[in-house]
Amino acid sequence: MSFDGRTAVITGAAQGMGSRVAERLAELGAAVGLWDFNGAGASAQAEKLRASGHQAVAASCDVSDQGSVAAALRATIDRLGTPTLVVTAAGIARARPFLDVEAAEFERQLSVNLTGTFLTMQACANAMVDAKLPGSMVGISSVAGRGPRADLTAYAASKAGVISVVRSAAVALAEHAINVNAVCPGVVDTEMTRRTQQQRAAELGITESEALQRLAARIPLGRIQTTDDVSDVIIFLLSRQASYVTGQALNACGGLEFD
Ligand SMILES: NC(=O)c1ccc[n+]([C@@H]2O[C@H](COP(=O)([O-])OP(=O)(O)OC[C@H]3O[C@@H](n4cnc5c(N)ncnc54)[C@H](O)[C@@H]3O)[C@@H](O)[C@H]2O)c1
Repeated sequence: MSFDGRTAVITGAAQGMGSRVAERLAELGAAVGLWDFNGAGASAQAEKLRASGHQAVAASCDVSDQGSVAAALRATIDRLGTPTLVVTAAGIARARPFLDVEAAEFERQLSVNLTGTFLTMQACANAMVDAKLPGSMVGISSVAGRGPRADLTAYAASKAGVISVVRSAAVALAEHAINVNAVCPGVVDTEMTRRTQQQRAAELGITESEALQRLAARIPLGRIQTTDDVSDVIIFLLSRQASYVTGQALNACGGLEFD
């Protein structure tokens, strides 16, 4: 598998799954644009990749802001060319009981996770269509987008929305030879999981490690997943081998979810 000569955009690339996917794509030959709200973190990741001989540039970007996305895209195209591989990993989560969720908190999760996915995919797809280039995009949804979550209402709604945006984009962009899919991870070993487990533990009056153990006990494969478990699937969905797959949401979750 090779992405030689291709340019990729990865949002949320300062850490977690986004940074791992960026690393894998760079290792497979792509020039990578790392976009993140945390501009310093994205720059540090890009610097690390350049030090290993890869082509990488960082952009400070709030994916929920259309102007910010447009500026990041312009900067990426100027330095690396038109992106034809896109992964939307930027996301936020806040564990809070349904009865206590505030409107602003609900809307922020929708605007980063859902609107941010739409804005990134729309802007990058327009660039591909203008350049008459085929491409592949993957949105990171979640098993939380597949069903109810009593203490992750906004997050679950945003991730269900990501699957819907991906399906609409897949149908709309098929005539331009751009395939679009979603991946639904379960419980991944990242900062986001640590933060949500801290919030859950505080609500339940248990320790963070007890909260994590309860979660892991529900996973049929019996372990929390690594960022590699997810990035392998994303790389496949971006590859030539998956070019006939579009509009799908693939669970990569150790058997937590089946629909
Ligand atoms: N951790 C899990 O268990 C899990 C499970 C399923 C899905 N996901 C999803 O996978 C994706 C990556 O999650 P992660 O676990 O690596 O999280 P993470 O918190 O480690 O990383 C998320 C990154 O997104 C960036 N970000 C946040 N808001 C942004 C914004 N407005 N604009 C641009 N960047 C922004 C953050 O700065 C951070 O670098 C997210 O969409 C998350 O919802 C995570």
